[in-house]
Amino acid sequence: MAKLSGKRAVVTGAGNGIGLAIARVFADEGARVLTVDVSAADLDAAFGGDERFATLVEDVAADDAPSSIVGAAIDQFGGIDILVNNAGIVVAGPFDTLTDEQFDSIMGVNVRAIFRISREAVPHLKASGAGRIINLGSIMSDLAGPALAIYGTSKHAVAGLSKGMAVDLGSYGITVNYLQPGSIVTKMSEPFMDDPEFKAYWEAKAPIGRLGQPDEVAAAALFLASAEAQFVSGVGFNVDGGAIVQF
Ligand SMILES: NC(=O)c1ccc[n+]([C@@H]2O[C@H](COP(=O)([O-])OP(=O)(O)OC[C@H]3O[C@@H](n4cnc5c(N)ncnc54)[C@H](O)[C@@H]3O)[C@@H](O)[C@H]2O)c1
Repeated sequence: MAKLSGKRAVVTGAGNGIGLAIARVFADEGARVLTVDVSAADLDAAFGGDERFATLVEDVAADDAPSSIVGAAIDQFGGIDILVNNAGIVVAGPFDTLTDEQFDSIMGVNVRAIFRISREAVPHLKASGAGRIINLGSIMSDLAGPALAIYGTSKHAVAGLSKGMAVDLGSYGITVNYLQPGSIVTKMSEPFMDDPEFKAYWEAKAPIGRLGQPDEVAAAALFLASAEAQFVSGVGFNVDGGAIVQF
């Protein structure tokens, strides 16, 4: 039997990369999925004409994003069982060149939006009886990387927020976990991988000896969303080929 049969999911940042892979595997396992992205063209290219998906063009950091996203899920599916806060952005640069605007914009998308959208979804996740929140952290939720001070701060915050939510929401049967991908081949990582030294560093950092693929992160999201993971909460789940444990 399909692992997510009858489940209703929301995946933000689903137009590309990891979010797209998560939305697809959830639908393949029987879920109906509201896919949210800032890019209408990307949503259309990924999900157009496939009735397992509803689409919503929305900026997760917008003031009205929580009501618009949760409202669309309720309109389309009548409830929410699984929320995947995947939308994220990165800025790279030496610490003393980073700006206030960059700090606010990264924290707005990578952290504040997770807080606000999750809070709006809580009544529906409670009603589900087995609600799931899966946030996108990173290997940078534990480590620091050169020129990634703001991004790393945001991903450390995702860890703290996820743990706090896990504590407060556990009594409602809601689990909250965060994924910690290593270096995954997507549009976000592509510009970094154009630098052969950077690419070789990340390939060697993982004992598995290569970069990861979005499907490999989606497989971990599927586990966390499934009934098998009902006693797993507050956890950072590394999908990094072992990169985090290698000195
Ligand atoms: N690629 C990696 O190596 C890697 C590693 C660790 C963590 N992550 C995290 O995984 C998540 C997905 O990353 P990815 O590599 O698939 O990125 P990506 O850039 O390939 O895709 C991200 C998607 O999110 C959308 N998006 C961006 N800002 C948005 C906003 N404000 N509102 C709505 N949609 C928005 C983009 O349009 C895009 O479709 C991010 O949170 C990222 O930080 C990625």
